[in-house]
Amino acid sequence: MALQVAEVQGLQLPLGESFTLLWSMGTRENERFDCHPNPGASRESCESLGCVWNESTSTSGVPFCHYPGPGSGYRAIDVRYGPDGVTADVTCDGCGPGAAAGVTEPVGTLRVEATFHTDHLLQFKIFDTSRRRYEVPVPLTLPAAPEASMEGRLYDVTIQDEPFGVQVRRRSSGTVIWDSQLPTFTFTDMFIQISTRLPSANIYGFGESEHPSFRHDLNWHTWGMFTRDQPPGYKLNSYGFHPFYMALEDDGNAHGVLLLNSNSMDVTFQPTPALTYRTTGGILDFYVVLGPTPEEVVQEYTQLIGRPVLPPYWGLGFQLCRYGYENDSEIAQLVQDMNRAQIPLDVQYSDIDYMERQLDFTLSPKFQGLPALVDQIRRDGMRFVLILDPAISANETDYLPFERGKEQDVFIKYPNSSDIIYAKVWPDFPNVEVDESLDWDTQVELFRAFAAMPDFFRNSTREWWAREIAEVYDNPRNASLSIRFDGLWIDMNEPSSFVHGSVDSCRDQQLNFPPYMPQLGSRSEGLSYKTICMEGQQQLPDGTPVRHFDVHNLYGWAQTPPTLQALRSLTGERGLLITRSTFPGSGRWAGHWLGDNTAAWDQLHKSIIGMLEFSLFGIPYSGADICGFFQDSTYELCARWMELGAFYPYSRNHNGKGSRRQDPVGWDSAFAELSRAVLLTRYRLLPHLYTLLFHAHSGGHTVVRPLLHEFVTDPTTWNLSQQFLWGEGLLISPVLEEGLSSLRLYLPDARWFDFYTGEEVGIRRQFVELPAPLGHINLHVRGGSILPQQEPANNTTYSRRNALSLTVALDDALRARGSLFWDDGVGIDTVEAGRYLLMEFTAHTNVLELRVLHGGYVDPNALRFTQIRVLGVAAPVGGVSVERNGQQIQSGHRVEHDGTTQVLTITELALELGQNFTLTWT
Ligand code: GLC
Repeated sequence: MALQVAEVQGLQLPLGESFTLLWSMGTRENERFDCHPNPGASRESCESLGCVWNESTSTSGVPFCHYPGPGSGYRAIDVRYGPDGVTADVTCDGCGPGAAAGVTEPVGTLRVEATFHTDHLLQFKIFDTSRRRYEVPVPLTLPAAPEASMEGRLYDVTIQDEPFGVQVRRRSSGTVIWDSQLPTFTFTDMFIQISTRLPSANIYGFGESEHPSFRHDLNWHTWGMFTRDQPPGYKLNSYGFHPFYMALEDDGNAHGVLLLNSNSMDVTFQPTPALTYRTTGGILDFYVVLGPTPEEVVQEYTQLIGRPVLPPYWGLGFQLCRYGYENDSEIAQLVQDMNRAQIPLDVQYSDIDYMERQLDFTLSPKFQGLPALVDQIRRDGMRFVLILDPAISANETDYLPFERGKEQDVFIKYPNSSDIIYAKVWPDFPNVEVDESLDWDTQVELFRAFAAMPDFFRNSTREWWAREIAEVYDNPRNASLSIRFDGLWIDMNEPSSFVHGSVDSCRDQQLNFPPYMPQLGSRSEGLSYKTICMEGQQQLPDGTPVRHFDVHNLYGWAQTPPTLQALRSLTGERGLLITRSTFPGSGRWAGHWLGDNTAAWDQLHKSIIGMLEFSLFGIPYSGADICGFFQDSTYELCARWMELGAFYPYSRNHNGKGSRRQDPVGWDSAFAELSRAVLLTRYRLLPHLYTLLFHAHSGGHTVVRPLLHEFVTDPTTWNLSQQFLWGEGLLISPVLEEGLSSLRLYLPDARWFDFYTGEEVGIRRQFVELPAPLGHINLHVRGGSILPQQEPANNTTYSRRNALSLTVALDDALRARGSLFWDDGVGIDTVEAGRYLLMEFTAHTNVLELRVLHGGYVDPNALRFTQIRVLGVAAPVGGVSVERNGQQIQSGHRVEHDGTTQVLTITELALELGQNFTLTWT
C-alpha cells in the first residue's frame, strides 16, 4: 500500500479561533503528463488544446500544461484474444485534447496487434490500416510463426478499451511492466505519442547520448534521439540512435523494450515513474523481452537484432591514431618509438590526413610512403586501419569516385528532380590555400568542396563503394600506390554536413521543421542541422522510395555491411570495422568508439557509462578516445586514461588536430613505463577478453558488464558505474579523479582476490579504500571464476605464440569455472564453420579439469598451459598430480603453496592446448 497522507506543515493557527482548510484536488504533480511539449506554452495555448494550465509547482521540469484526465479520445474495439496474440481496432472520436491537436492530420483508423513470438519475446504494433506508412527496413530475427506457449509464456497482454491502452504483465510476479493506458496517446501523421507507467525507477539505455549516470534520473528529463555529428555533451544526442531501454523491476527481474521506429524522437522520464515517447513519423512497433535476468535481457535483445561481430584477435590489441599526422614519416617514427619502448601496439591508423585534400580514395603527396609503411608494419606483425568518410567531393575534374557514382546514380537527390543535394564535409576545393586561422564557418565557406552523399541502401551504391575501396587496396593505375590496409574506420556517417541541409536551401519546410521538433539541443535549427535536407530521396534495395526524413538514423547502419563485405573480400580476412553512427543491429558488423570527447576528467566516468550502454545495445566492442580528442591532455589525466582504456574492449588512443601529443611515447619515460605495464596486463588477459567476445557473438553475453548484471539482488550495484566487470569474473576499478593515490571501491558479495598478488581481500558487500597510486589499476578476480591468460608480447602476432596460463579463483564452496575460445584469430565465420577450439575449465575443492568442448581448431604453435595459479587454497598442499586424457602423466612441474597468501602456484607445466587434463592437489 502506498502512503496516502497529506502533511501540512508551517501552520500558525492560534488556539481558540475558527479556521477552514481547503485542499485542491488537482492532478498530483507526478501524474501530470505534458500536453504542450512544444516550446512556448502559455495558459492560452494550453487551454486551446483542451488541456489544463497549472503553474503550482516548485519542481523544475514539471509541465504547467497537462492533460485534463485519463482519456485520450482513443478507444479499442473488437478486442480479440488468441493463443498467439491479441488484436483490436483503435478508433478516435475527435481524438481528445492534446499536444498535436490540429497540428498534423490525425490517423483515425488504427489497429493494434500483439504477437507472442516466444515465451520471452512479444511484439505489439500500432499502425494505420487505411494507408501504409513508413516502417523501419531493418530485419529482425523472429520465429516464422509465434512459438510462445500458453504454459511457458513469461507474460500476459491485455488491451484496454477505454481509454485505449496496452498492458504487459510479468506472470511470475504479477508486475505490470508496460501500461500505456494514459491520456497522452496520440497518432497523427507527424506526431505520434505514447506513454507508459514504468514498474520501477531503474531504467538504463536509450542513446546515443552522454548520460550523467548509468541509471536514468527520472526527475523530468527529456532526451532527444537523432543521429548527429555532435560531440558528447549534456542533453545533446550524438552519433547513434538506440530507442532501447532495460528496466530493472524492484524485485530484481529485468526486461527490455525496443521501439522499432527510426524517425527523430525524444523520450521524457518523469517520477510517476513513467516514460513518454514522441516520434515524428513511422509507426509504433514495440518489442519486449522478459529476461528475467539483465544478462538474459541482452541475450534476448541481441537474438532479436543480431548478435555482435567477433573482432579479429589483433583488434583486441592496443591501437594508436591521431588527426593531424603531418606525413607518413611521422607515423613511421611513432611506430618505431613505440616498438623501441616495447609498448604493445597492434594497430596503427591514419586519419583523413593521408588523403589528398581529404578526398576519399586518394593519397596525399605527403603520404606517398604510406603504402610501403603499411607493408612494413604488417611484416612486423602489426596492422593498419584507414578512415573513410561518406561524403564525395563534386568539385573535381577527373575524380573517378564522383564520376562513377554519378553514372551509377548513387547520390541522394532532391525528390522528383535530378539535382544532387550538396553538403560540405572535409574535402577541400581544388587549388585553395586553407587558412586555419579563420573561424570555422568562414573556412567551411571558403575552402570546403561541395560533397554528394551516397545512398547506401541502393545496390548500385554498394557495388560502387566496394569498387572504390578495392581501388585503394589494389590501385589499378599505379600498383605501387596500393595500400594493404587491414581494417576500415567509417566516420561522419550520421551523415554529417558542415552546412545545414545543403549548400543551397532545403525545399521542404515541413520535413525539415516538423510540427513537433524533438528536443535535440538545437530545436530552432530544425532536423537538417549539421546534416542534409530531410526531403532527400533514397531508395531501398527493392526499389521502394524512402525519404531521408524517415531513414536518416539508418545512414550509418546502411553503410556498415557493404563496407565490411568489401573489406573482407579484399583482405580475405575477418577485418576490423569501426563505425561512428549506429542503429540497433549495427553490432553485427562493427564496433564503435564514443566519438569526439574532450580531454577532461569527467570523461573517464562518462566513457564507462557509454560502454555499459553499448553493451546493452549489442555493440560490446567499444571504447572512448583514450586521453581525449579535443583539447590538450594532461599527464595525470592521460596516465589514468591509459589505465582505464587498457580495459576498453576497443582500446585506442586517438587525438584531435592541433593538440599536444598524448601517445604513450609522447610524454616521458615514466609514462611510457606505466603504459607498457598496464598494456602488458591487458595483453596477458587477451585470451579471456577474446573468449568473452566469442560468448557475446555466439550467446549475446555482455563483455564489459555492469555490476548489477552479476549482483542483481544487491541494490548498491544498481547505479554503480565507476567500476565494471569483464564477464563475470574480473572487476575493474579505475581511478577517475585527479590527485588520488587511493580509491574507494565497492566489492559486492563474493570472494575477491587481488589480480596481481592473488591474495584474498577478505571484504565483501562493502566499500573499501585501497591503494591506487599512479600506475596501478585495481583488478580483482571473483571467487568462482577461471581466467585464461597468455604471456604478453609487443603485438598479438607474437603474444599468440606464447605460453598459456590459468588463474583459478575458488569461491566459498571451493568451486570455479571458466572457458577459453581459440581460433586463428582472423578467419571469416570461424564460429559458424566450427573452425575453433572451445575449452571448459572447472575446479572443485582440489581438482581442476580442462576439457575440450569443441575441438575444431589446432593451433600451429603447439601452445601449452605452463602455469596455473589457484587462489584461495587454505590447506597445505603436498603435491599435484596430472592426468592427460584420463592417464596419469609425469609432467615435471613445480609446486609452490604460500600458506599466508593461500596461493597455489604450479609452474613448468606443459599441458597442450586442445587436450583434456585433470590436475589434483593433495
Ligand atoms: C571526426 C571524427 C574524429 C576524426 C575527425 C577527422 O571528428 O570523429 O575521430 O579524427 O573527424 O577525420
